[in-house]
Amino acid sequence: MCGIVGYVGPRAAAPLLIDGLKRLEYRGYDSAGVAVMNGKVETRKAAGKIARLESVIGQQPVHGTVGIAHTRWATHGAPNERNAHPHVDEKSEVAVVHNGIIENATALRTLLEQTGHTFTSETDTEVLAHLIEASYDGCLEDAVLEALHLVDGTYGIAVVHAKEPNKIVAARKGSPLLVGVGDGEYFVASDASAILNSTRNVVYLDDGELAVVTRDGYKIMSLDARELVKEVNRIEWDLDEIERGGFPHFMLKEIFEQPQTLENTMRGRVILEEGFTKLGGLNLTKEQLLAIDSITITACGTSWHSALIGEMMIEELCRIPVEVEYASEYRYRNPIVSPNTLVIVISQSGETADTLAAMREAKRRGARTLGLVNVVGSTIAREDDGGVYLHAGPEIGVASTKAFTSQVVALALFTLKLARLRNLGIERGREIAQALLRLPGQVQSILDRADEIQELADQFKNAHNFLYLGRGYNFPTALEGALKLKEISYIHAEGYPAAEMKHGPIALIDDLMPVVVVAPHDSVFDKVVSNVQEVKARKGRVIGITTRDEESLAGKLDYEFRIPETVDMLMPILASVPLQLLAYYIAVKRGCNVDQPRNLAKSVTVE
Ligand code: F6R
Repeated sequence: MCGIVGYVGPRAAAPLLIDGLKRLEYRGYDSAGVAVMNGKVETRKAAGKIARLESVIGQQPVHGTVGIAHTRWATHGAPNERNAHPHVDEKSEVAVVHNGIIENATALRTLLEQTGHTFTSETDTEVLAHLIEASYDGCLEDAVLEALHLVDGTYGIAVVHAKEPNKIVAARKGSPLLVGVGDGEYFVASDASAILNSTRNVVYLDDGELAVVTRDGYKIMSLDARELVKEVNRIEWDLDEIERGGFPHFMLKEIFEQPQTLENTMRGRVILEEGFTKLGGLNLTKEQLLAIDSITITACGTSWHSALIGEMMIEELCRIPVEVEYASEYRYRNPIVSPNTLVIVISQSGETADTLAAMREAKRRGARTLGLVNVVGSTIAREDDGGVYLHAGPEIGVASTKAFTSQVVALALFTLKLARLRNLGIERGREIAQALLRLPGQVQSILDRADEIQELADQFKNAHNFLYLGRGYNFPTALEGALKLKEISYIHAEGYPAAEMKHGPIALIDDLMPVVVVAPHDSVFDKVVSNVQEVKARKGRVIGITTRDEESLAGKLDYEFRIPETVDMLMPILASVPLQLLAYYIAVKRGCNVDQPRNLAKSVTVE
C-alpha cells in the first residue's frame, strides 16, 4: 500500500527520501511527495510515479537534512497532486504523511472548518495536519498525542513541524512503521527496504506506539506518554535480493526464482527417512498438536487460494475439519472457535489489514494462531502464537508468485507433520517428503520451457475473456491462474471447478473463449476429461495443462503444455508455474505494467 520514509541526520534529505520512495513504489504509486525542513516546511508533490516527483525536485530543489516522504495509493480523493502527501496545515508549519484510514475524518473536518480551518485536499490525512496544528504548544510529540486521541481508524504517520526542525514524530496504529538506527542518523519507514541502503538496524513500532526521532537519537513512547524500551532488530536480507537481477520485471524474476525459493522454504525441515517434517516455530507441543480438533485458515487473495489447497491437504491426510475464510469476512461473522481450534493465518506481507484483524479476532476468541508469513518481523509474524516463515525472500512484483508456491509448500510441511503424528503411515509420509524434495528440479524443468508459454501467449494476447477450470486440488489452481491473468493483463478471467461450468458459465463458451484446463493425471482426471468434452462441443479453445499422453484427450486440446507428475496435493505448485508465465507474457505483449498493475498495491494495509 502507501509507503512512508523519513530522515534526520547530516546528509541531504531529498535524495535519500527519493531513493527510499523508489524502493517503496511497488506498494502504491499513484502520487508521491516530500516535505523537507529548510527554515520552514517545504513540500514538493507530483501525481504519477516517483520519477515525476524526482523531476519536479530537479526543477525546484529542496535543501535540508530532515524530511519526510510518501508514495500514495489513493483511498480518499482522486490520485492527483492536491491529494498527494505530505499534507500541511494552513500555516504550512505542520506536515504529515499517513498510511491507513481516519474513519471519523468527515466529522473532524466539519468541526475544524467550524473553527476556521481551511482544507485544500479531499483526503482524510489533512485532518491530522490541522488537528496537530491546533494542539501544538511548543512540543510536537505532545501535539501528535493529543491529536491521535481524537481520531478513529488506522494510521502509520510521520510528522514534522517548522518550529522543531530537527525532529520527526512517528506513530503507529494498524499500519506498519519502524525506526532505522544509523550511524549519527535516523530514519522512519513503513518498510525496511526503504532504508536498507543506509542501515540494517531497526526498531519495529507496535500498535499504540509513538517515536520521537532527532539527530541525537530516538525514543519510543506509548500513546499515554510512557517511555518504552524496545529491541533493535537486525535485517538479514540484502538489497540485491530486491533488485531485478537482469530480468525485465520483478514478476518474471520471482517466477524464475521458484526452484530456489521452494528449496529455501523446505531447507532443514524435511526428514526424508521418517517421512516427517521439522517446524521449529510452531510453538505447539506434540500434545497440543494432537488435541487440535478444528482448523480455520484465513487469508486474502492469492494467499486465500493457497488456504483452499491447505484445506484439502489437511482434511485428506489429518482428518481434521478445516474451514477457509476470507479474512475480510471472518471478524464480521460470529465464527466458531473451540479451545482446540487452530487458526492458520496466511500472508506474504504479514501486514494485510484484513488478515491481521482476523488473526486478532481469532486470538480474542481464544484460538491459537499460526502464521504462514514471508516478511520477517512483519506484524502478523510478531503477533501470532507460532509461525512458519516462507523464506521466499522479498516479493516485489505486485502479483504474488513465489510466495504462493512457498505457501503451498509450507502448508504441505505442516500437514505432513500433523498427519504423521496422528494417523499417516511412514510409507505415505516418505512418498510425500520425496515429492516435496523433487519440486525445485521439476519447477526448473517447467521454467526451462518458458518459450513455449511465450508462444502460447502470442496466440491469446487479444482475448477478452478467459475461463480457467480445474477439479480437486486444482480448483484453487484455476482460481489463482485466473487472478494472475486479470490483475496484470486486465483481461476478464474466471476460475471455476470444472464440473460447475455446466451450471452457468458454459453459456459463455464459443469459439472466441480460451479455456485453460488443469488436467494432470490425478484422481479426478477422468472427470476433467468429460468437462473438456463439454467445452469442445461448444467450440471453446482449450489449453490443457497435462502430465502425460492421454488417449482420452486425443484431439480435444487446441494447445497442450506438459508438466511433470507429482502427488496430487503438490500438483498446484507445478500447475501454477505455467499459468504464472502465461499471465506474465500475455500482459507484457499487451503493453501492461506488469510489476505495478493499475489500482493494485502490494500490501493492502487498509480494510
Ligand atoms: C495477488 C496478490 C494479492 C495478495 C493479497 C494478500 O497476486 O498478491 O491477492 O495475495 O493482497 O496479500 P498478503 O499475502 O500479503 O496478505
